[in-house]
Amino acid sequence: MLTPPTHSKNVKFSPLVKRLGGDGADAWVTHYAALAARERGEDVIILSVGDPDLDTPPAVVERAVAALRAGDTHYSPAAGRLPLRAAIARSHSARCGQPCSGDNVVHFSGAQNALFVASMCVAGPGDEVVTFDPMYPTYPATIEVSGAKLVRVPAIGGFRPDLTALTRLVTPRTRAIVWASPNNPSGVVLNEAELTAIGELARRHDLWLIADEVYVGLAPGGRVPSLASRMPERVVTLGSLSKSHAMTGWRAGWLVGSEEFVTHAIELAMCMLFGLPGFIQEAAITALSMAPEAEARIRAFCAARLARFAAGIAGIPGVRPLPPEAGMFMLLDVTATGLTGARFMRELFRSQRVSVMDGAAFGAATAGCVRVCFASEEATLDAACARIRRFCAEEAPGLAAAASG
Ligand SMILES: Cc1ncc(COP(=O)(O)O)c(C=O)c1O
Repeated sequence: MLTPPTHSKNVKFSPLVKRLGGDGADAWVTHYAALAARERGEDVIILSVGDPDLDTPPAVVERAVAALRAGDTHYSPAAGRLPLRAAIARSHSARCGQPCSGDNVVHFSGAQNALFVASMCVAGPGDEVVTFDPMYPTYPATIEVSGAKLVRVPAIGGFRPDLTALTRLVTPRTRAIVWASPNNPSGVVLNEAELTAIGELARRHDLWLIADEVYVGLAPGGRVPSLASRMPERVVTLGSLSKSHAMTGWRAGWLVGSEEFVTHAIELAMCMLFGLPGFIQEAAITALSMAPEAEARIRAFCAARLARFAAGIAGIPGVRPLPPEAGMFMLLDVTATGLTGARFMRELFRSQRVSVMDGAAFGAATAGCVRVCFASEEATLDAACARIRRFCAEEAPGLAAAASG
Protein backbone atom coordinates (compact mmCIF):
# COMPACT_ATOMS: atom_id res chain seq x y z
CA MET A 1 0.00 0.00 0.00
CA LEU A 2 1.21 3.50 -0.78
CA THR A 3 1.88 5.73 2.21
CA PRO A 4 -0.17 8.95 1.94
CA PRO A 5 2.02 11.85 0.82
CA THR A 6 3.23 14.09 3.63
CA HIS A 7 5.32 17.18 3.67
CA SER A 8 7.25 18.96 6.34
CA LYS A 9 5.54 21.94 7.96
CA ASN A 10 8.66 23.90 7.10
CA VAL A 11 8.23 23.34 3.39
CA LYS A 12 5.88 26.06 2.19
CA PHE A 13 3.70 26.29 -0.91
CA SER A 14 3.38 29.56 -2.77
CA PRO A 15 0.28 31.79 -2.40
CA LEU A 16 -0.56 30.80 -5.97
CA VAL A 17 -1.32 27.23 -4.88
CA LYS A 18 -4.18 28.48 -2.69
CA ARG A 19 -5.72 30.37 -5.59
CA LEU A 20 -5.75 27.35 -7.87
CA GLY A 21 -8.55 25.53 -5.99
CA GLY A 22 -11.06 28.27 -6.85
CA ASP A 23 -14.82 27.93 -6.56
CA GLY A 24 -15.05 26.01 -9.82
CA ALA A 25 -12.96 23.03 -8.72
CA ASP A 26 -15.88 21.14 -7.07
CA ALA A 27 -18.01 21.44 -10.17
CA TRP A 28 -16.29 18.50 -11.80
CA VAL A 29 -16.79 15.92 -9.02
CA THR A 30 -19.85 14.22 -10.58
CA HIS A 31 -18.29 14.41 -14.02
CA TYR A 32 -15.16 12.63 -12.86
CA ALA A 33 -17.25 10.05 -10.98
CA ALA A 34 -19.12 9.40 -14.23
CA LEU A 35 -15.87 9.01 -16.17
CA ALA A 36 -14.58 6.55 -13.57
CA ALA A 37 -17.87 4.59 -13.71
CA ARG A 38 -17.64 4.40 -17.49
CA GLU A 39 -14.10 3.08 -17.20
CA ARG A 40 -15.38 0.36 -14.90
CA GLY A 41 -17.75 -0.63 -17.71
CA GLU A 42 -20.92 0.76 -16.09
CA ASP A 43 -23.85 2.02 -18.14
CA VAL A 44 -23.51 5.79 -17.70
CA ILE A 45 -24.51 8.71 -19.91
CA ILE A 46 -22.11 11.64 -19.75
CA LEU A 47 -23.63 14.98 -20.72
CA SER A 48 -21.50 16.99 -18.31
CA VAL A 49 -18.69 18.13 -20.59
CA GLY A 50 -18.51 20.11 -23.84
CA ASP A 51 -16.87 17.46 -25.97
CA PRO A 52 -18.67 16.83 -29.26
CA ASP A 53 -19.43 13.19 -29.95
CA LEU A 54 -17.85 13.44 -33.41
CA ASP A 55 -14.52 12.28 -34.78
CA THR A 56 -11.77 14.69 -35.77
CA PRO A 57 -11.89 15.10 -39.58
CA PRO A 58 -9.86 12.22 -41.11
CA ALA A 59 -7.63 14.55 -43.16
CA VAL A 60 -6.44 16.16 -39.92
CA VAL A 61 -5.61 12.80 -38.36
CA GLU A 62 -3.79 11.71 -41.53
CA ARG A 63 -1.72 14.89 -41.54
CA ALA A 64 -0.61 14.32 -37.94
CA VAL A 65 0.27 10.69 -38.65
CA ALA A 66 2.21 11.62 -41.79
CA ALA A 67 4.12 14.32 -39.91
CA LEU A 68 4.99 11.87 -37.13
CA ARG A 69 6.13 9.26 -39.64
CA ALA A 70 8.26 11.90 -41.34
CA GLY A 71 10.07 12.52 -38.05
CA ASP A 72 8.33 15.70 -36.94
CA THR A 73 9.14 14.95 -33.33
CA HIS A 74 11.57 17.72 -32.40
CA TYR A 75 11.35 21.08 -30.68
CA SER A 76 9.41 23.82 -32.39
CA PRO A 77 9.30 27.62 -31.88
CA ALA A 78 7.69 28.84 -28.66
CA ALA A 79 5.22 31.07 -30.52
CA GLY A 80 4.19 28.28 -32.92
CA ARG A 81 5.32 27.63 -36.48
CA LEU A 82 5.04 30.57 -38.84
CA PRO A 83 2.67 28.84 -41.33
CA LEU A 84 0.32 27.98 -38.47
CA ARG A 85 0.42 31.49 -37.03
CA ALA A 86 -0.26 32.89 -40.51
CA ALA A 87 -3.18 30.47 -41.02
CA ILE A 88 -4.69 31.47 -37.67
CA ALA A 89 -4.28 35.16 -38.58
CA ARG A 90 -6.04 34.64 -41.95
CA SER A 91 -8.90 32.77 -40.32
CA HIS A 92 -9.25 35.44 -37.60
CA SER A 93 -9.19 38.32 -40.14
CA ALA A 94 -11.78 36.60 -42.32
CA ARG A 95 -14.05 36.14 -39.31
CA CYS A 96 -13.90 39.57 -37.69
CA GLY A 97 -12.21 41.92 -40.18
CA GLN A 98 -9.19 42.74 -37.98
CA PRO A 99 -6.20 43.15 -40.29
CA CYS A 100 -3.47 40.98 -38.77
CA SER A 101 -0.58 38.66 -39.57
CA GLY A 102 1.21 35.78 -37.90
CA ASP A 103 3.02 38.41 -35.78
CA ASN A 104 -0.25 38.95 -33.92
CA VAL A 105 -0.69 35.26 -33.08
CA VAL A 106 0.68 32.81 -30.52
CA HIS A 107 -0.18 29.12 -30.64
CA PHE A 108 -1.17 27.64 -27.28
CA SER A 109 -2.30 24.34 -25.91
CA GLY A 110 -6.01 25.16 -26.20
CA ALA A 111 -7.95 28.34 -25.47
CA GLN A 112 -7.68 27.41 -21.79
CA ASN A 113 -3.91 27.76 -21.96
CA ALA A 114 -4.29 31.02 -23.90
CA LEU A 115 -6.67 32.35 -21.23
CA PHE A 116 -4.13 31.57 -18.53
CA VAL A 117 -1.45 33.46 -20.44
CA ALA A 118 -3.71 36.43 -21.16
CA SER A 119 -4.68 36.56 -17.51
CA MET A 120 -1.04 36.51 -16.37
CA CYS A 121 -0.11 39.22 -18.88
CA VAL A 122 -2.79 41.78 -17.98
CA ALA A 123 -3.23 41.72 -14.20
CA GLY A 124 -1.54 40.95 -10.91
CA PRO A 125 -1.93 41.35 -7.14
CA GLY A 126 -4.10 44.36 -6.25
CA ASP A 127 -5.75 44.47 -9.67
CA GLU A 128 -9.28 43.47 -10.61
CA VAL A 129 -10.54 41.60 -13.65
CA VAL A 130 -14.22 41.82 -14.50
CA THR A 131 -16.18 39.02 -16.08
CA PHE A 132 -19.80 38.14 -16.69
CA ASP A 133 -21.98 35.74 -14.75
CA PRO A 134 -22.55 32.94 -15.79
CA MET A 135 -19.03 31.88 -16.69
CA TYR A 136 -17.07 28.75 -17.50
CA PRO A 137 -15.99 27.21 -14.15
CA THR A 138 -12.26 27.40 -14.87
CA TYR A 139 -12.45 31.21 -15.13
CA PRO A 140 -12.21 32.05 -11.41
CA ALA A 141 -8.99 30.11 -10.81
CA THR A 142 -7.49 30.97 -14.21
CA ILE A 143 -8.09 34.67 -13.65
CA GLU A 144 -7.21 34.78 -9.95
CA VAL A 145 -4.03 32.76 -10.41
CA SER A 146 -2.38 36.03 -11.46
CA GLY A 147 -3.13 37.44 -8.01
CA ALA A 148 -5.88 39.69 -9.37
CA LYS A 149 -9.40 39.65 -7.91
CA LEU A 150 -12.24 38.38 -10.09
CA VAL A 151 -15.25 40.69 -10.14
CA ARG A 152 -18.50 39.14 -11.36
CA VAL A 153 -21.04 41.20 -13.26
CA PRO A 154 -24.53 39.86 -12.55
CA ALA A 155 -26.80 38.74 -15.38
CA ILE A 156 -30.14 40.26 -16.23
CA GLY A 157 -32.96 38.57 -18.19
CA GLY A 158 -31.89 35.81 -20.53
CA PHE A 159 -28.44 35.57 -18.91
CA ARG A 160 -27.22 38.76 -20.59
CA PRO A 161 -24.67 40.90 -18.72
CA ASP A 162 -26.09 43.77 -16.68
CA LEU A 163 -24.21 46.64 -18.31
CA THR A 164 -25.32 49.17 -15.72
CA ALA A 165 -23.76 46.97 -13.06
CA LEU A 166 -20.66 46.61 -15.24
CA THR A 167 -20.20 50.38 -15.32
CA ARG A 168 -20.50 50.47 -11.53
CA LEU A 169 -18.09 47.57 -11.01
CA VAL A 170 -15.25 49.03 -13.07
CA THR A 171 -12.91 50.79 -10.62
CA PRO A 172 -9.43 52.33 -10.83
CA ARG A 173 -8.12 48.85 -10.01
CA THR A 174 -9.79 47.20 -13.02
CA ARG A 175 -7.35 46.00 -15.66
CA ALA A 176 -9.48 43.89 -17.99
CA ILE A 177 -12.93 42.65 -18.95
CA VAL A 178 -13.15 39.00 -19.97
CA TRP A 179 -16.09 37.22 -21.59
CA ALA A 180 -16.97 34.22 -23.73
CA SER A 181 -19.27 34.70 -26.72
CA PRO A 182 -21.02 32.37 -27.39
CA ASN A 183 -21.22 31.91 -23.64
CA ASN A 184 -20.74 28.66 -21.81
CA PRO A 185 -23.20 27.66 -20.31
CA SER A 186 -25.96 29.99 -21.53
CA GLY A 187 -25.19 30.13 -25.27
CA VAL A 188 -25.67 33.93 -25.22
CA VAL A 189 -23.90 35.78 -28.03
CA LEU A 190 -23.06 39.38 -27.13
CA ASN A 191 -24.71 41.79 -29.57
CA GLU A 192 -23.33 44.94 -31.20
CA ALA A 193 -24.98 47.28 -28.71
CA GLU A 194 -23.57 45.37 -25.74
CA LEU A 195 -20.09 45.27 -27.27
CA THR A 196 -20.19 48.97 -28.10
CA ALA A 197 -21.01 49.77 -24.47
CA ILE A 198 -18.21 47.47 -23.28
CA GLY A 199 -15.77 49.01 -25.77
CA GLU A 200 -16.61 52.57 -24.68
CA LEU A 201 -16.06 51.65 -21.06
CA ALA A 202 -12.73 50.05 -21.94
CA ARG A 203 -11.62 53.17 -23.78
CA ARG A 204 -12.67 55.43 -20.89
CA HIS A 205 -10.85 53.35 -18.30
CA ASP A 206 -8.02 52.03 -20.46
CA LEU A 207 -8.83 48.35 -20.07
CA TRP A 208 -7.84 45.18 -21.83
CA LEU A 209 -10.66 43.23 -23.45
CA ILE A 210 -10.26 39.46 -23.57
CA ALA A 211 -12.76 37.79 -25.88
CA ASP A 212 -12.97 34.02 -25.55
CA GLU A 213 -14.33 32.80 -28.90
CA VAL A 214 -13.82 29.10 -28.41
CA TYR A 215 -17.42 28.49 -29.61
CA VAL A 216 -17.44 30.97 -32.51
CA GLY A 217 -17.48 28.22 -35.14
CA LEU A 218 -20.79 27.05 -33.68
CA ALA A 219 -22.47 30.45 -34.02
CA PRO A 220 -24.58 31.16 -37.11
CA GLY A 221 -22.24 31.56 -40.09
CA GLY A 222 -19.23 30.94 -37.82
CA ARG A 223 -19.23 34.58 -36.72
CA VAL A 224 -20.05 36.63 -33.64
CA PRO A 225 -19.97 40.41 -33.22
CA SER A 226 -16.43 41.40 -32.21
CA LEU A 227 -14.52 44.50 -31.08
CA ALA A 228 -11.20 43.21 -32.43
CA SER A 229 -11.18 45.26 -35.63
CA ARG A 230 -12.39 48.40 -33.82
CA MET A 231 -9.86 48.26 -30.95
CA PRO A 232 -7.00 46.00 -32.02
CA GLU A 233 -4.67 47.63 -29.50
CA ARG A 234 -6.69 46.40 -26.52
CA VAL A 235 -8.62 43.31 -27.67
CA VAL A 236 -7.12 39.86 -27.19
CA THR A 237 -9.10 37.12 -28.92
CA LEU A 238 -8.83 33.50 -27.77
CA GLY A 239 -9.74 30.56 -29.97
CA SER A 240 -9.11 26.89 -30.63
CA LEU A 241 -9.98 23.91 -32.78
CA SER A 242 -11.51 22.04 -29.83
CA LYS A 243 -15.18 22.66 -30.55
CA SER A 244 -15.26 23.69 -34.22
CA HIS A 245 -13.39 20.58 -35.40
CA ALA A 246 -14.17 18.09 -32.60
CA MET A 247 -10.51 18.27 -31.56
CA THR A 248 -10.71 18.74 -27.79
CA GLY A 249 -7.94 16.23 -27.11
CA TRP A 250 -5.45 17.80 -29.51
CA ARG A 251 -5.04 20.91 -27.38
CA ALA A 252 -4.64 23.26 -30.32
CA GLY A 253 -5.54 26.87 -29.57
CA TRP A 254 -4.26 30.42 -29.83
CA LEU A 255 -4.50 34.02 -28.92
CA VAL A 256 -4.57 36.99 -31.31
CA GLY A 257 -3.52 40.41 -30.00
CA SER A 258 -1.36 43.45 -30.62
CA GLU A 259 2.30 42.80 -31.45
CA GLU A 260 3.31 44.15 -28.05
CA PHE A 261 0.91 41.82 -26.26
CA VAL A 262 2.13 38.93 -28.37
CA THR A 263 5.77 39.65 -27.41
CA HIS A 264 4.90 39.11 -23.74
CA ALA A 265 2.72 36.10 -24.46
CA ILE A 266 5.61 34.49 -26.36
CA GLU A 267 7.93 35.07 -23.41
CA LEU A 268 5.45 33.29 -21.16
CA ALA A 269 5.01 30.51 -23.74
CA MET A 270 8.78 30.12 -23.69
CA CYS A 271 8.81 29.63 -19.91
CA MET A 272 5.80 27.34 -19.84
CA LEU A 273 5.93 25.28 -23.00
CA PHE A 274 9.13 25.84 -24.94
CA GLY A 275 7.20 24.99 -28.10
CA LEU A 276 4.28 22.63 -28.69
CA PRO A 277 4.35 19.41 -30.76
CA GLY A 278 5.13 20.04 -34.42
CA PHE A 279 2.90 17.23 -35.73
CA ILE A 280 -0.08 18.81 -33.98
CA GLN A 281 0.74 22.15 -35.55
CA GLU A 282 0.88 20.59 -39.01
CA ALA A 283 -2.49 18.93 -38.37
CA ALA A 284 -3.84 22.26 -37.12
CA ILE A 285 -2.84 23.93 -40.41
CA THR A 286 -4.81 21.25 -42.28
CA ALA A 287 -7.74 21.76 -39.91
CA LEU A 288 -7.75 25.52 -40.53
CA SER A 289 -7.60 25.00 -44.30
CA MET A 290 -10.88 23.09 -44.08
CA ALA A 291 -12.53 25.29 -41.44
CA PRO A 292 -15.67 26.20 -43.45
CA GLU A 293 -16.62 22.52 -43.99
CA ALA A 294 -15.64 21.50 -40.47
CA GLU A 295 -17.66 24.31 -38.91
CA ALA A 296 -20.66 23.62 -41.15
CA ARG A 297 -20.48 19.98 -40.00
CA ILE A 298 -20.47 20.84 -36.29
CA ARG A 299 -23.24 23.43 -36.69
CA ALA A 300 -25.47 20.94 -38.50
CA PHE A 301 -24.66 18.29 -35.89
CA CYS A 302 -25.47 20.64 -33.00
CA ALA A 303 -28.68 21.90 -34.64
CA ALA A 304 -29.93 18.34 -35.15
CA ARG A 305 -28.97 17.23 -31.64
CA LEU A 306 -30.45 20.35 -30.06
CA ALA A 307 -33.75 19.64 -31.84
CA ARG A 308 -33.63 16.01 -30.71
CA PHE A 309 -32.85 16.87 -27.11
CA ALA A 310 -35.44 19.66 -27.01
CA ALA A 311 -38.10 17.23 -28.25
CA GLY A 312 -37.07 14.60 -25.69
CA ILE A 313 -36.96 16.96 -22.73
CA ALA A 314 -40.20 18.81 -23.60
CA GLY A 315 -43.01 18.34 -21.13
CA ILE A 316 -40.98 16.73 -18.34
CA PRO A 317 -42.67 18.05 -15.21
CA GLY A 318 -40.41 20.35 -13.21
CA VAL A 319 -37.88 20.86 -16.01
CA ARG A 320 -37.87 24.14 -17.94
CA PRO A 321 -35.55 24.07 -20.97
CA LEU A 322 -33.67 27.30 -21.77
CA PRO A 323 -32.41 26.81 -25.34
CA PRO A 324 -29.17 28.56 -26.37
CA GLU A 325 -28.54 31.07 -29.16
CA ALA A 326 -25.46 29.07 -30.13
CA GLY A 327 -23.19 26.35 -28.85
CA MET A 328 -23.57 22.81 -27.58
CA PHE A 329 -25.20 23.31 -24.18
CA MET A 330 -28.73 23.67 -22.91
CA LEU A 331 -29.59 24.93 -19.44
CA LEU A 332 -32.52 23.25 -17.72
CA ASP A 333 -34.18 25.22 -14.94
CA VAL A 334 -35.01 22.53 -12.35
CA THR A 335 -36.19 24.71 -9.45
CA ALA A 336 -39.75 23.35 -9.79
CA THR A 337 -38.46 19.86 -8.91
CA GLY A 338 -37.73 21.14 -5.39
CA LEU A 339 -34.04 20.26 -5.82
CA THR A 340 -31.07 22.58 -6.09
CA GLY A 341 -28.99 22.22 -9.25
CA ALA A 342 -26.28 20.51 -7.19
CA ARG A 343 -28.69 17.97 -5.70
CA PHE A 344 -30.38 17.36 -9.03
CA MET A 345 -26.94 16.66 -10.52
CA ARG A 346 -25.86 14.32 -7.71
CA GLU A 347 -29.16 12.45 -7.36
CA LEU A 348 -29.67 12.09 -11.11
CA PHE A 349 -26.26 10.50 -11.38
CA ARG A 350 -26.81 8.29 -8.33
CA SER A 351 -30.17 6.96 -9.46
CA GLN A 352 -30.07 7.13 -13.27
CA ARG A 353 -26.35 7.27 -14.07
CA VAL A 354 -26.72 10.44 -16.16
CA SER A 355 -24.13 13.14 -15.46
CA VAL A 356 -24.95 16.80 -16.00
CA MET A 357 -23.33 19.92 -14.53
CA ASP A 358 -24.71 21.99 -11.64
CA GLY A 359 -25.63 25.45 -12.92
CA ALA A 360 -24.35 27.06 -9.71
CA ALA A 361 -20.83 26.08 -10.81
CA PHE A 362 -21.13 28.81 -13.46
CA GLY A 363 -22.31 31.51 -11.04
CA ALA A 364 -25.39 32.83 -9.28
CA ALA A 365 -27.28 33.49 -12.52
CA THR A 366 -27.60 29.79 -13.29
CA ALA A 367 -28.15 28.48 -9.76
CA GLY A 368 -31.30 26.33 -9.90
CA CYS A 369 -30.30 25.06 -13.33
CA VAL A 370 -28.26 22.18 -14.65
CA ARG A 371 -26.26 22.32 -17.86
CA VAL A 372 -26.51 19.56 -20.43
CA CYS A 373 -24.19 19.07 -23.40
CA PHE A 374 -26.39 17.87 -26.24
CA ALA A 375 -23.57 17.22 -28.75
CA SER A 376 -24.14 13.46 -28.42
CA GLU A 377 -25.58 10.65 -30.48
CA GLU A 378 -29.37 10.67 -30.88
CA ALA A 379 -29.82 7.33 -29.10
CA THR A 380 -27.77 8.65 -26.15
CA LEU A 381 -29.90 11.79 -25.95
CA ASP A 382 -33.13 9.76 -26.15
CA ALA A 383 -31.95 7.48 -23.35
CA ALA A 384 -30.84 10.48 -21.26
CA CYS A 385 -34.24 12.18 -21.66
CA ALA A 386 -36.04 8.97 -20.67
CA ARG A 387 -33.88 8.67 -17.56
CA ILE A 388 -34.37 12.35 -16.62
CA ARG A 389 -38.13 11.89 -17.06
CA ARG A 390 -38.07 8.82 -14.79
CA PHE A 391 -35.93 10.63 -12.23
CA CYS A 392 -38.31 13.59 -12.07
CA ALA A 393 -41.36 11.33 -11.82
CA GLU A 394 -39.88 9.19 -9.06
CA GLU A 395 -37.55 11.40 -7.07
CA ALA A 396 -38.41 15.09 -7.34
CA PRO A 397 -39.76 16.20 -3.95
CA GLY A 398 -41.20 19.45 -5.29
CA LEU A 399 -43.35 17.60 -7.77
CA ALA A 400 -44.56 15.05 -5.24
CA ALA A 401 -45.54 17.89 -2.87
CA ALA A 402 -47.34 19.72 -5.69
CA ALA A 403 -49.21 16.55 -6.66
CA SER A 404 -50.31 15.77 -3.08
CA GLY A 405 -51.07 19.40 -2.16
C1 LIG B 1 -15.79 29.21 -22.48
C2 LIG B 1 -14.66 28.25 -22.65
N1 LIG B 1 -13.41 28.72 -22.80
C3 LIG B 1 -12.36 27.91 -22.96
C4 LIG B 1 -12.52 26.54 -22.97
C5 LIG B 1 -11.30 25.69 -23.17
O1 LIG B 1 -11.22 25.25 -24.49
P1 LIG B 1 -9.93 24.56 -25.09
O2 LIG B 1 -10.27 23.12 -25.30
O3 LIG B 1 -9.66 25.26 -26.38
O4 LIG B 1 -8.83 24.75 -24.11
C6 LIG B 1 -13.78 25.99 -22.83
C7 LIG B 1 -13.95 24.53 -22.80
O5 LIG B 1 -15.01 23.99 -22.66
C8 LIG B 1 -14.89 26.86 -22.65
O6 LIG B 1 -16.12 26.40 -22.49
